Amino acid sequence: MILERVLTGITTTGVPHLGNYVGAIRPAIAASKRTNVESFYFLADYHALIKSHDPELVHRSTLEIAATWLALGLDVEHACFYRQSDIPEIPELTWLLTCMTAKGLMNRAHAYKAVVHENEQAGEDPDFGINMGLFAYPILMAADILMFNGHKIPVGRDQIQHIEMARDIAQRFNHHYGDHFVLPEALLDDNVAVLQGLDGRKMSKSYGNTIPLFLPEKKLKKSINKIQTNLLEPGEPKDPDTSTVFQIWQAFATPEQTAEMREEYANGIAWGEAKKRLFELVNTELAEARERYNTLLETPGEIETILQAGAEKARTISRPLITQLREAVGIRPLK
Ligand code: TRP
Repeated sequence: MILERVLTGITTTGVPHLGNYVGAIRPAIAASKRTNVESFYFLADYHALIKSHDPELVHRSTLEIAATWLALGLDVEHACFYRQSDIPEIPELTWLLTCMTAKGLMNRAHAYKAVVHENEQAGEDPDFGINMGLFAYPILMAADILMFNGHKIPVGRDQIQHIEMARDIAQRFNHHYGDHFVLPEALLDDNVAVLQGLDGRKMSKSYGNTIPLFLPEKKLKKSINKIQTNLLEPGEPKDPDTSTVFQIWQAFATPEQTAEMREEYANGIAWGEAKKRLFELVNTELAEARERYNTLLETPGEIETILQAGAEKARTISRPLITQLREAVGIRPLK
């Protein structure tokens, strides 16, 4: 049996929404149950500091995201679930990699370039509002991955460049100091739905069009009622393929339920009715997890214990590797 190591980080800013669930969390939890896969999932709280300087938000989001993954059934015996900042070897590796990373490589990072571009458009200094964390972000991400020799990195398209940079950095390090790192690859799952938000664009925090994952039942219903539709009346046939209500339905329904709903659209189901059924479907899938989530939020100490156990497990890998790397770069005891 080939053992594959899958690793991914979740930046701890903001509240998880249905798009995160369908696009990332649900497939990751399913993958963690496969016996030929070793999975590493972590809360990227150092990454959060790049985007957010609000301590309460970073802290609260760490709690909510950890509770979300646990409530949805992540098996922490099988998967390694930890918080980035509990692994001191990660910032240490970040520095070793920083000294092997060409500045020119970082200049080419899309996330950084996008901010420079915005500044230029606005007539600002190109460096306005850019901290070194944003500039060096791909190196921290490379350290996350290389620390655990992750082979397959499930990410969205916006992160592909970062995985390529991690490969570049690893190659350069290996070339100079000997073979220490496995070269990681991005794992893109094209079957996973990119969910649409309330306004029909991609569901995303930056568009403000999200449906938070664990809204209380009444609020979930209200939120689903806000999904934009056209003005077709009950009885008039509707096109499922241009409908956000249908698109979200599809992400939660079985193929049979999807086929049935397609019929209903052809028969002119009323928007109110389609939304009511969507609410019921989504609510049924999430209700139990939502209860566990609310209980977990009340018992943060339990989450902390789980994270500490995860960090201990992760550090059985990171400690020996950092010792080996220190040795390789010439940081050794004098004797
Ligand atoms: N930068 C990633 C994001 O914003 C999160 C992340 C941090 C990550 N470290 C990682 C993803 C390592 C994969 C591997 O989505």
